Amino acid sequence: MDIKFAIVTCSDTRTIEQDEAGSALVGLIEGAGWRVVSHVVVCDDARAISDAIRAATDELDADIVLTCGGTGLSARDVTPEATAVVCERDVPGIAEAIRAYSLAKTRRAMLSRARCMQRLVRGSDGSFTGRLALVINFPGSTKAARECWEAVSDQLEHAMKMSA
Ligand code: MTE
Repeated sequence: MDIKFAIVTCSDTRTIEQDEAGSALVGLIEGAGWRVVSHVVVCDDARAISDAIRAATDELDADIVLTCGGTGLSARDVTPEATAVVCERDVPGIAEAIRAYSLAKTRRAMLSRARCMQRLVRGSDGSFTGRLALVINFPGSTKAARECWEAVSDQLEHAMKMSA
């Protein structure tokens, strides 16, 4: 099954060249035989993150957006809130599975506020296309991104079939 991914790294300090976690995700996705249609770095700004998610799903046709970073407890960590602005439906089971898997790796996993949600994809006229995209928040470190991928990657194809 062809699945199109977009990676949105949320960081005030990283550039695309330095985005090791995002690049690791690109490798994992392509290694699994899927496609990456975009990989961008945006600052920890809610509007910038929401806009990047919307552009990925509505303009680039991404089926799954993986955000990376900005899920922690500092005031600048706004990725979960920015995700909720452009997504309609919560998918708590995926976030719960990530946290359960991650807690077995590090107790610090409880410090991530990551969410998983579905967006009703809009066309250029603003109307619903009938397509649902999945947005999953990953933490920002390379280790965490890899672990979160391990936690969910085997269920993504089925998730996409169910979203059609
Ligand atoms: N989850 C996994 N699987 N592995 C990790 O190393 N690090 C935690 C947590 N989740 C971690 C993890 C830490 S230390 C933090 S602060 C939070 O994710 C939030 O990270 P973020 O602010 O980069 O999103």
